[in-house]
Amino acid sequence: MTWSERQRAMLAEMGIRVWDVSPADEPVEAEAPASVSAPAEVSVPAVADARPPRTSTETASDAPSPSALASTMDWPALREAVASCTACSLCESRRQTVFGIGHPQAHWMIVGEAPGEEEDRSGEPFVGRSGQLLDNMLRAIGLSRQAGETPDPAKQVFIANTLKCRPPGNRNPLPDELARCEGFLIRQIQLVQPRIILAMGRFAVQSLLRSTAPIGQLRGRVHRYQGVPLVVTYHPAYLLRNLSEKGRAWDDLCLALDTVEASAGAAQHAPAGG
Ligand code: URA
Repeated sequence: MTWSERQRAMLAEMGIRVWDVSPADEPVEAEAPASVSAPAEVSVPAVADARPPRTSTETASDAPSPSALASTMDWPALREAVASCTACSLCESRRQTVFGIGHPQAHWMIVGEAPGEEEDRSGEPFVGRSGQLLDNMLRAIGLSRQAGETPDPAKQVFIANTLKCRPPGNRNPLPDELARCEGFLIRQIQLVQPRIILAMGRFAVQSLLRSTAPIGQLRGRVHRYQGVPLVVTYHPAYLLRNLSEKGRAWDDLCLALDTVEASAGAAQHAPAGG
């Protein structure tokens, strides 16, 4: 897809009107902010290899939670550990855990916040209105959470949340819940080995980058999580409430896409051997 086609597809999927003044003109968009183009270059990470280890005083309790033991688990063991986790009180109110979904070696990893009511019911992340918007955004750049018969990992996403259980009434995750659950997400990222992580919303950012800075300050450049490029963007639920920010989310998606494509290109041109 050329840049212009990508831009058009994304804007259309996101409900932003585009029209041509003349064939030579770039698309003009009606609702999005003025800068809908990707940044000219990927900026130097502001938070290099984020996620320093927690200190003991930050740890939720002395007893290791199942997620803390996840670091050597394979996919089946990890899935089972999540399903049977009782490390925090969310296990009492959940219908089921929401593990995550997607190709196990997807090049893209999306990290959201926590299951809502529909996710708690279905067991799959992002199936409500936020999920529909997310799927539309991903589809616009040729990505999918559904692996076809011969899935190309480069076109696949793995979607996970910082919490695997629904907080009652969709309240915000508590620090203790995040701490007890984070080993699961860390292991998922280790197993998927994504080429790019999209951190959606402040809880994903807090977990992965250990930053409480506003999304608006962190987006627009490439961070690193354990060496993996990470792009910060708005949570789809926020976009549903703040339609004018969709243009910025589009920028973020394009930044992520350019980052993946640049690293794939660099890998192709790297000299063989060591
Ligand atoms: N919001 C999230 O962050 N995750 C979900 O799975 C659903 C809504």
